[in-house]
Amino acid sequence: MKSINVGVIGTGSISAMHLQSYQKHANANLLAVCDLNEERARLAAEKYGATKVFTDYRELLADPEIDAVSICTWNNTHAEISIAALNAGKHVLVEKPLCRTVEEALRVQEAVKSSGKLLQVGFVRRYDPNAQMLRDFADKGEFGEIYFAKASSIRRLGNPGGWFSDIERSGGGPLIDIGVHVIDLCWYMMGRPKPVAVSANTYRKLGNRSNVRNLSFYKAADYDAEKNTVEDMANAMIRFENGASLLVDVSFTLHAKDNQQSVKLYGDKGGFEIDPEVVIVTEKHDTIINIQPQTDHKGFDFNSAFQSEVNHFIASIENGTQPLSPVEDGVEIMKILCGIYESAEKGAEVLL
Ligand SMILES: NC(=O)c1ccc[n+]([C@@H]2O[C@H](COP(=O)([O-])OP(=O)(O)OC[C@H]3O[C@@H](n4cnc5c(N)ncnc54)[C@H](O)[C@@H]3O)[C@@H](O)[C@H]2O)c1
Repeated sequence: MKSINVGVIGTGSISAMHLQSYQKHANANLLAVCDLNEERARLAAEKYGATKVFTDYRELLADPEIDAVSICTWNNTHAEISIAALNAGKHVLVEKPLCRTVEEALRVQEAVKSSGKLLQVGFVRRYDPNAQMLRDFADKGEFGEIYFAKASSIRRLGNPGGWFSDIERSGGGPLIDIGVHVIDLCWYMMGRPKPVAVSANTYRKLGNRSNVRNLSFYKAADYDAEKNTVEDMANAMIRFENGASLLVDVSFTLHAKDNQQSVKLYGDKGGFEIDPEVVIVTEKHDTIINIQPQTDHKGFDFNSAFQSEVNHFIASIENGTQPLSPVEDGVEIMKILCGIYESAEKGAEVLL
């Protein structure tokens, strides 16, 4: 089978996961990289064996040898680069969030339709082996009707600075950056019910706390603590058409005792937790039991999840099949995220 020639656009922090996964894939050929920062692009090309280096993504997209691209740039460029790539006849794997607004998301969806090319949204948590195992359990009726989910992604200190904290380039703070992962994971596990209403709050109380000493945290490739125009924390209640609900809280900074990462779902036949560790809860013979599935992966396995995401992207291209995280899901998640910001702004519930 002809190998798939790939270009990676944006060679900052997360691109390493894409680059290493393509490099390890037997039928993907990492051909090109692109970054506004030429030195960064050149280093990535050397490390991962790409032969072409660009600083303008339009030149990469004009290269007829390239079949597919990963987009690992700032959020404000996702829609523009995705649409240009699709129109240039390339398949697209775009990092989360799909973009910043519902309007942008709908334009990307339109370009997917008109181009006939494939677009996979980088909802990497779906591709985690444990998530796939639990999705399979859910499909087989193990949990019955999942009617409530609760997720936290609390960083006590973790505003990555740079573009992440510049609302123009990011579209928002912890909600759109890390909240998107757990909201999508819960929604996917619940069977993707239609969201109908959101009630939410955002807070800007603590700033980025770049003054704090003795604790390290994740930083953008171009870290800069000067500008911070995003929320510190957000909480939300999302209501679905089938009566199910999702409660979520996320932060870049909060006076919390420690970081908290938890994803819990509850059905009428059983419940389960994905983070921080997989456990299934059910009742048998009038007794409540916690079941610990035995797998190679104790918690969320970053490397395996990215490798599966890339493997799935290449397989979807080869087989002409719809990806597990199609553009339509990216649009729905943008509706939820933007609904949360709107509700917080209005101080009232918002109907979606
Ligand atoms: N899936 C995950 O778990 C995960 C984790 C972190 C980040 N992300 C996402 O990945 C994307 C990148 O995040 P990051 O942490 O790597 O940021 P980063 O700041 O480390 O890297 C971004 C890179 O994109 C480059 N860039 C920006 N605009 C460009 C353009 N128009 N053309 C070419 N290059 C451009 C920048 O120069 C920079 O090198 C974001 O959308 C973020 O939400 C996903």
